Amino acid sequence: MLLLAVLATVLVRPGRGAAARDVFTDVFTPEHATVAEAVRDFVGWRPFPTQPIQFPHTTHLARKLQCEGCHAGAATGPVAGIPDTKFCMSCHQLFATDKPEVRKLAAYFSRGEDVPWQRVYGFSPSAHVKFNHAPHVRAGVQCSACHGDLTRQTVAVRSVNLTMGYCLACHRSRKASIDCTTCHF
Ligand code: HEC
Ligand code: HEC
Ligand code: HEC
Ligand code: HEC
Ligand code: HEC
Repeated sequence: MLLLAVLATVLVRPGRGAAARDVFTDVFTPEHATVAEAVRDFVGWRPFPTQPIQFPHTTHLARKLQCEGCHAGAATGPVAGIPDTKFCMSCHQLFATDKPEVRKLAAYFSRGEDVPWQRVYGFSPSAHVKFNHAPHVRAGVQCSACHGDLTRQTVAVRSVNLTMGYCLACHRSRKASIDCTTCHF
């Protein structure tokens, strides 16, 4: 079932935001006339971002690293977080030091900079969505329900379209709150 739901959202991905409007058009006036406008509004969001380093989720996950090893905030709070270069270099002082992408990492580290990763997931600020990872992790919702299978992604891609309809469908089936103020501020 869940897999079907995920596939369905992948297939309808160009209609980001459309589901929300179809359901609520006669109740609420969206702040944006078109989906494209809403998407443009959210400057940091890219469906296929160009990352400064070709970070391979594949390689790291094949070596049995856990998601929470790098995204430690997911279990405890709203933001999953991305590790800093110091964390990466705890391994890469030793591993794959000759690889071009790891050299780039080392260069950021030696300049005392973090890697300027582009955001993959997120919402238009005008949608006023509040999201929190921790209750989902506590309730046993898998990362893949919202982010797809990272063992098949190098850098993360937006493989699940997190529309309001998608959130609501699971909240209904799991008897989680569907009150507007649960997800909106
Ligand atoms: C389970 C979480 C959740 C609940 C409950 C929820 N929403 Fe949403 N809503 C979202 C998300 C997530 C988005 C953004 C979707 C996107 O970017 O495609 C959204 C988008 C919207 C938008 C479009 C805003 C824009 O500018 O694009 C409106 C309007 C809206 N919601 C109204 C409501 C109303 C009214 C209720 C209560 C009846 C409600 N929502 C309940 C998650 C939720
Ligand atoms: C119920 C859906 C859902 C689940 C389950 C989920 N995420 Fe997320 N994740 C999101 C949303 C939505 C965002 C964007 C949040 C925002 O911009 O406010 C996000 C953002 C992120 C980010 C970007 C940094 C951040 O925290 O904003 C990372 C990394 C991430 N998730 C990792 C994970 C990992 C690892 C897991 C499993 C432990 C996980 N997510 C489970 C929905 C989910
Ligand atoms: C627990 C140790 C560990 C951590 C932490 C770690 N890596 Fe890795 N990484 C590895 C190993 C092992 C490889 C595979 C090396 C190989 O295939 O020879 C690798 C491979 C890579 C590669 C691919 C190199 C290539 O071209 O083959 C990149 C890029 C990379 N890591 C970046 C990062 C970044 C960025 C971080 C921090 C977010 C990070 N790594 C954190 C152990 C780690
Ligand atoms: C070795 C560290 C490492 C591990 C392990 C790891 N990630 Fe990541 N993750 C990163 C880095 C670095 C980025 C930023 C580059 C990118 O977007 O791919 C990232 C990005 C992401 C994003 C996109 C965040 C955004 O910008 O919205 C998601 C979602 C995500 N990871 C989920 C996961 C999940 C789920 C797992 C476990 C199956 C996992 N990651 C395991 C390091 C890691
Ligand atoms: C695959 C199922 C699933 C999806 C998809 C999902 N959620 Fe949830 N959500 C849950 C469950 C289960 C809980 C925990 C309910 C509880 O603790 O009683 C929860 C809890 C929450 C909470 C905390 C509610 C509280 O009372 O503290 C927020 C906020 C939330 N979800 C927002 C979202 C948003 C926004 C989205 C879409 C981007 C989303 N959820 C998608 C299953 C899901």
